[in-house]
Amino acid sequence: MEKTFLMVKPDGVQRGLIGEIVKRFEQKGFQLVGSKLVHITKEQAELHYQEHKGKDFYERLVNFITSGPVFAMVWQGDQVIALSRAMIGKTNSLEAAPGTIRGDYAIHTHLNLIHGSDSPQSAEREIGNFFKPDELVDYSKVIQQWI
Ligand code: GTP
Ligand code: MG
Repeated sequence: MEKTFLMVKPDGVQRGLIGEIVKRFEQKGFQLVGSKLVHITKEQAELHYQEHKGKDFYERLVNFITSGPVFAMVWQGDQVIALSRAMIGKTNSLEAAPGTIRGDYAIHTHLNLIHGSDSPQSAEREIGNFFKPDELVDYSKVIQQWI
């Protein structure tokens, strides 16, 4: 089944939004297969945001994501990559629609609460950057057939 890497950023942890964010993905019907609260290293941050290296906001981004603990998660489900991105909302805070996580809770583009992988390739790389294989749990839920 498709998996994605989602991460409550340091602003979301500080604002006490871990529960609210987890709730949304649980209620949608996705399945949590791994999670941890972790203060990520500069190396992990640079690998995570490698596609943005050289951009004017890159340094601020790496400083921000290492500024406090994040809540790293792996979720699975059909189309979880695209659907979780839709639930997260647009990157630009002025375009993030109400009803999305960023639209409901974030004001600024650089304090936008949550990260979600944008493709199967990034999901695989990002999951590997944050989790060892034995930190992910393989299990099934009977309710799945109704979702
Ligand atoms: P992530 O889930 O964090 O990867 O966000 P995203 O996929 O919606 O956006 P993207 O990968 O393009 O950019 C990564 C992060 O860099 C965003 O979440 C923003 O916080 C920040 N960012 C992106 N574009 C800009 C920009 O033009 N200006 C500033 N200040 N920050 C930006
Ligand atoms: Mg991105």
